[in-house]
Amino acid sequence: MARYLVTGGAGFVGSHAVLALLDRGDEVVVLDDLSQGHRAAVPAAATLVQAPLADGAELKRVFANWRFDAVLHFAALSLVGESMKAPMHYMAENLGNSVRLIEAAIEAGCLRFVLSSTAALFGNPARIPIDEDCPVSPGNPYGESKLMVETALAWAERIHGLRYAALRYFNAAGSDPQGRAGEDHNPETHLLPLAIDAALGRRPALTVFGDDYPTPDGTCIRDYVHVTDLADAHLRVLGRLETHGSCRYNIGNGEGHSVKQVLDAIARVSGRTVPHSIGPRRPGDPAILVAASEKLRAETGWSPRFGDIDAIVRTAWAWREAHPNGYGER
Ligand code: UFG
Repeated sequence: MARYLVTGGAGFVGSHAVLALLDRGDEVVVLDDLSQGHRAAVPAAATLVQAPLADGAELKRVFANWRFDAVLHFAALSLVGESMKAPMHYMAENLGNSVRLIEAAIEAGCLRFVLSSTAALFGNPARIPIDEDCPVSPGNPYGESKLMVETALAWAERIHGLRYAALRYFNAAGSDPQGRAGEDHNPETHLLPLAIDAALGRRPALTVFGDDYPTPDGTCIRDYVHVTDLADAHLRVLGRLETHGSCRYNIGNGEGHSVKQVLDAIARVSGRTVPHSIGPRRPGDPAILVAASEKLRAETGWSPRFGDIDAIVRTAWAWREAHPNGYGER
């Protein structure tokens, strides 16, 4: 049995990773200020420490209280659109908090670190699908802030021997197939929950952000990857870090779907159409982001269980239908 510190473990991807760790018998301490996450998303079997990452004294206490085998760092601001309006806020929060956390881990002798990174650091990528050698060139401050954390980790490795994995998620979606967790942001900005709620009549019609992109139907193409598959990638990468050096992986299904194709998938799965209209582009949105995840597959044996968009939509739909108010804290 191992013990892990999971920052942001009350958030969307973090809470699914916590479930995966607990399911295999590991011990988990969640550090989350609940500014975006939900207390109800943290299973009773995990210990929740409610504190902001900016609280250096609390961070020290956490590392003094427990010895961790690794840190999984999910806590971050993660909205492309918001980052285009408040760039310095994104730099300060994402880089500042991560640097403090890396420093505290090193001081405590915890030299294994998994970072939630993002496809957003590729900007408008040089090639599709995007492999790990594709040049990075973030098109928004969110992606830039994550790239800066990756750079900080590389220096921590070089100077302190910290071994890290930077996992560049593409579009995390879906929900725990057992219905124990789901996607609930406040405010919600993500395509699937907004579109599903629109189809359920719980929210206004969806605005599709632009239909004049250079894609077959004019809407943006993304690589939607199931959040439980993402969680599984973390477990595999943790194992690999024990025997190999630091690594960077792009994690997606390797297949892109346009916004319109996602709306079609919702209609197929649920039998309901998604009311929508076409609006202007959202600043910072690249036209196409699709991952090449061959490296992760080859080096860790990872293979998505929910490889097709209908399977992803099915779990997302089931959770939102069963939880009209999400985690019910609003
Ligand atoms: N979209 C709409 N209308 C909406 C919401 C979204 O048309 O109301 C479109 C977006 O323009 C985009 C797609 O749906 O083309 C997906 O948008 P999301 O907001 O769900 O996700 P993003 O692609 O913007 O961002 C997500 C994560 C980021 C991560 C990125 C990497 O939130 O953290 O995937 O691909 F960087």
